[in-house]
Amino acid sequence: MDSSSPVTTLLLALLSILLVMWFLKSKRPQYGRLPPAPPALPIVGNLFQMDIKAPHKSLIKLSKQYGPVFTLWFGGTPVVVLCGFETLKEGLIERGYDFSGRYLLPILKKISDGYGIAFSNGERWKQLRRFSLSTLKNFGLGKRSIEERIQEEAQCLVTAIRNKQELPFNPDFLLRCTVSNIICSIVFGERFEYEDERFLTLMERTDGISNALSKPGVQMYNNFPKIMDFLPGSHHKILQNMADLKTFVNQMIQSHRESLQKDFPRDYIDSFLIKMDEEKHKPDSEFIDENLLMSVINLFLAGTESTSTTLQWAIQILVKFPDIQEKIYQEICEVIGSYRRPGIEDRAKMPYTDAVIHEVQRYIDLVPMNIPHMATKDVEFRGYLIPKGTFVITVLSSALKATSQWETPDSFNPNHFLDENGCFKQSESFMAFSAGKRMCLGASLARMELFLFLTTLLQNFVFNSITDHKDIDISPATSGILVKPHVYKFCAISR
Ligand code: HEM
Repeated sequence: MDSSSPVTTLLLALLSILLVMWFLKSKRPQYGRLPPAPPALPIVGNLFQMDIKAPHKSLIKLSKQYGPVFTLWFGGTPVVVLCGFETLKEGLIERGYDFSGRYLLPILKKISDGYGIAFSNGERWKQLRRFSLSTLKNFGLGKRSIEERIQEEAQCLVTAIRNKQELPFNPDFLLRCTVSNIICSIVFGERFEYEDERFLTLMERTDGISNALSKPGVQMYNNFPKIMDFLPGSHHKILQNMADLKTFVNQMIQSHRESLQKDFPRDYIDSFLIKMDEEKHKPDSEFIDENLLMSVINLFLAGTESTSTTLQWAIQILVKFPDIQEKIYQEICEVIGSYRRPGIEDRAKMPYTDAVIHEVQRYIDLVPMNIPHMATKDVEFRGYLIPKGTFVITVLSSALKATSQWETPDSFNPNHFLDENGCFKQSESFMAFSAGKRMCLGASLARMELFLFLTTLLQNFVFNSITDHKDIDISPATSGILVKPHVYKFCAISR
């Protein structure tokens, strides 16, 4: 008799039970009338259909078969996917708060516990968002405006690049320091020297967190947190980096407490401490220690990686297309000249440069699947019923690369943002910062940074590479939460 048959029978029985359980679960009334879904396997759901290297591409491909609104199963969790410009516009903008919740993947829940602007919901999120937006707007607040801070930091970057003496270098680290210092000066009220030990540790920790977020260990944790808690992997590293970051920020908050002058807020932390004091008798106030700590960390992480990675991409693309780099330089010469520092009022007079920056953001498609959203109530959407609390993926990539919206969606083409007279032309499908209620809180800061850093760099240097510019690969190197470019060394030749 075949000795393996009892085992086989047992496995088959187990598999059947799992299949039936999964089928019954997916049909439970709590899951409403979900949009159509491709066939899924028990336990893993549709995970096997995702291209790990470019999951957003799998989503766009599935939307061609199942429509612009469909369901996927990640393990036992249903995920509703919104794809295409019209669907995103309806879901993110026209439906107001319906999909404006933040879905907390297990790793985000573990890190934030639902505190802070980026990972909170409901009244907490509304209050923190309103406060953070107005505080960022007021900076202004204190002695120097944000524009001045960026201009000064841009000059520090120029000095650091000149010190490379035109030898090949990877600009990644310097760009991260520069961009990070802008957030440091807004939240901590100070910038750091690029060699400062504390700053370097801070950079290392943020880099560790952002890299680990795209690692398979974290993806596994998000799908099977209870099992992964007991297994080694990058999810533990992220928690250690986060703990170090929290210690650093808590020290900064403590030193702000000790030197706070209520009538002279120096930065975001001071403003938050003042608000905490104003609301200390309100039992349900959201201005509490946990929200201060996590909001500072949110601003720091969100504000550093996204803008510096965009700048890294921009330099790479301009090295690949030297004629475009030269055209921007011509515009700088005409509008700013060689000596005056670029200012934000110059942007309106520099449509070509503005168009190139927008096209960089469109082309690189930095956050292709957006940060996870969530249905804030039971939502009727296009004939489906999406229950409150459902994880919603809004595929920004499907708007940024839509064939119906862009002339040449897959190639780099600044004309996407220029009209026939060479004037700057905005497009509704430009959703690099997302759209609607949850849209990037730092979008105007980021736009200011991209313009001022890039024009200051190109006013001072020509960037080129040691390899033939035609061989520079401007396709993505990795696609996690952020899409990263390949690593190259460039030479910055003084003008
Ligand atoms: C090129 C640079 C940037 C890009 C492409 C970018 C993109 C994004 C995207 C796609 C989101 C998610 C929006 C959503 O959930 O629908 C987001 C959220 C956010 N961003 Fe940015 N961002 C950039 C720079 C910044 C900067 C400089 C800051 C610093 C102030 C910042 C702070 C935030 C915060 C706090 C959130 C969470 C907002 C919320 O949940 O309400 N971002 N960003």
